[in-house]
Amino acid sequence: MTADLLITGISQLVTAKGSGAKHGPAMRELHVTERAAIAICNRGIIWTGKERDWSGEALASVDVGDRAVVPGLIDPHTHAVWAGNRLADFDARTSGKTYEAILAAGGGIRRTIRATAAATKDELLSLAEPRIRALLQSGATTVEVKSGYGFTPATEIAMLEVIQALAARTPARLLPTLLIHIPPASSEDRPRYITEICTELIPEVARRQLATAVDIFVEKEAFHVDEATLVLQSAKQHNLAVKLHTEQFQCIGGLELGVRMGVLSVDHLETCGPEQLAMLAASSTIATILPGVSLHLGIPAAPGRQLVDAGAAVAVGTDLNPGSSPLFSAAAALALAVRLNGLTAQEALVAGTVNAACALGLADTGRLEVGLQADFLVLEGSDWRELVYTLGGNPVREVWIRGERL
Ligand code: NIG
Ligand code: FE
Repeated sequence: MTADLLITGISQLVTAKGSGAKHGPAMRELHVTERAAIAICNRGIIWTGKERDWSGEALASVDVGDRAVVPGLIDPHTHAVWAGNRLADFDARTSGKTYEAILAAGGGIRRTIRATAAATKDELLSLAEPRIRALLQSGATTVEVKSGYGFTPATEIAMLEVIQALAARTPARLLPTLLIHIPPASSEDRPRYITEICTELIPEVARRQLATAVDIFVEKEAFHVDEATLVLQSAKQHNLAVKLHTEQFQCIGGLELGVRMGVLSVDHLETCGPEQLAMLAASSTIATILPGVSLHLGIPAAPGRQLVDAGAAVAVGTDLNPGSSPLFSAAAALALAVRLNGLTAQEALVAGTVNAACALGLADTGRLEVGLQADFLVLEGSDWRELVYTLGGNPVREVWIRGERL
């Protein structure tokens, strides 16, 4: 066997094995190979194992100096494109107003929609680029990016075009999602808005392949289940994957709808109760938790521990956005999931790699296995657990995508 490149000096090579989401106790089954090596050819992994067992030839080699290697992280939930800021909301919240009250009064997400509408596509692109770079440096080699601050079909399309341009400018793999975020302020306009989304926006997004999935925010201050049902049905008819923002503040039937419609993931889940845990555990829908939101808004953390114990497949995302989670690090999201949601270090790594990949419908990433693209991280330390132990500093030393060091 001849490799283009052999990576040596790996203190621990850590990965989940086999495609498919890991549920419950399987989230703790990591494979750790000590004193390991990875052989790469044509950007893909052709061999992994103990360094002393490598018997092939390598055209070049890189010694990572007795450091741990893990798969590139997958951030399955971000809103990385926005303009303006939410510092006035932050002040209002630290003075006692709630996120929901600010939103109901026309601030919050609506404030960001106004600022985003006032920006040009070039401005949005230059604002978003360093955010993606920050996620990349924190270890995210694949990042989902949602629209949702556009509101009208034309501005939502413009946001998706910005994400497309962003994808061309970063080595990270970006997955664009069309997010139907907030309804018109007047309830009279809601039916017409939903019709426009289903008959104009979704068909155009599908035709131009501007998104791989459609997401909708189900919440008292956002969309109701009957509206979300129409949007998800339209998305499915147009062969787009579907997912939901749900159970963030209230339980109004979003999770049940998601499970019934077989969505890829239900995201947030801070208010999820015991019956819902069981329902998720019995389904193939990924439970995506977002600890940055609990930290920043001071709301209860999603029951990560209980979800795993019930047998669900949990993923973790940053939810990077200006209002509820200004968290620019995928590694920190995992570190917070251990502290706030009660995951073990092993579960957090699975939640941020293979399960996060499944939340995006990807079977070909999030693991270090022969045949997969060589996307991996060299950590600063020799023990991989520093990835989820470190707070504040960056535990990621090197990011490799398709066999190339960034
Ligand atoms: O995932 N909850 C809805 N959407 C985002 C927040 C967006 C914002 O506040 O700007 C979230 O928390
Ligand atoms: Fe979100």
